[in-house]
Amino acid sequence: MNNRNKYLVILIIISILTLSVFGILIYLNHDDKNNELDNSEIVNKENENNNNSIEANPKKEEENKEDIIITELKSEEYFIQNNLDRYLSYKGIHPEKSNKDIIADVNSNIDKDFYTDIKSSDLDKGILVIVNKYHALTKDYVPDLVTMENTYTGVAGAKMQKEAYEHFKEMVDSAKLEDIKLFNVSAYRSYNTQNTLYTNYVKRDGVDGADRYSARPGHSEHQTGLASDINTASSKDHFENTKEYSWLIANSYKYGFILRYPENKEYLTGYKFEPWHYRYVGVEVATYIHEHDITYDEYYAYFVENN
Ligand code: DAL
Ligand code: ZN
Repeated sequence: MNNRNKYLVILIIISILTLSVFGILIYLNHDDKNNELDNSEIVNKENENNNNSIEANPKKEEENKEDIIITELKSEEYFIQNNLDRYLSYKGIHPEKSNKDIIADVNSNIDKDFYTDIKSSDLDKGILVIVNKYHALTKDYVPDLVTMENTYTGVAGAKMQKEAYEHFKEMVDSAKLEDIKLFNVSAYRSYNTQNTLYTNYVKRDGVDGADRYSARPGHSEHQTGLASDINTASSKDHFENTKEYSWLIANSYKYGFILRYPENKEYLTGYKFEPWHYRYVGVEVATYIHEHDITYDEYYAYFVENN
């Protein structure tokens, strides 16, 4: 081989080596790029997952919150399972209210406007019948009644259901021994009598005014023959400041009578404080209500309505 040919061979070898090195480098670079792509895909996938979980969390959080609220509501005294949906939607409207108040309000139906969703009073409940702005007696409902003796009533010919009257007499007699004078001024009132009273009050004070102290016909406890207004029926007399009132508050439950429209409970009962209006519910129930300071509307929903 002459010198010229030798150089040619060396040049060819160098060229082949150089091309091979470039080839290898290009290959490696391509692989890196692939890896980069893979990595970015992984990162994207991770982001996607994260995004998904960010979207899923609020829903989960809401569910957890509702679970906690339900558990808290269930631990409240007087919780009624059937009312759960109403408690939750009422709490949504009144987040400021305590769970105790949510239960008391809904059990008393005041998540509904007064005189809406009216049901018939369940007469099968006997002396525990409820009559209020959501429960009505029919026009022709007249209970079995006895006429009160004049010793016990300021209005001659007043009537009550017998069991209630027997306990009323016992109460008045016991009070008398302590120099406390009690007498009925209004007991049973027919649907028509209540209609006349209410209509006249509306003429005087308008519907909104009258509704705060007088029941619409069919909605008065007086139609049950289980209620009595004692000594007066006028707020002007301030019966709440008398010793007779103090005696009734301390003792009426022993004879089965409860103060039906207590002070500061208008938002539950629908009526202003009536220190004179007593309702017979029997000694056991009256004792419970006296000891637990709840209204009859609350008591009825929890202990009577579905039992
Ligand atoms: N004053 C009571 C609420 C009635 O009218 O029955
Ligand atoms: Zn009354």
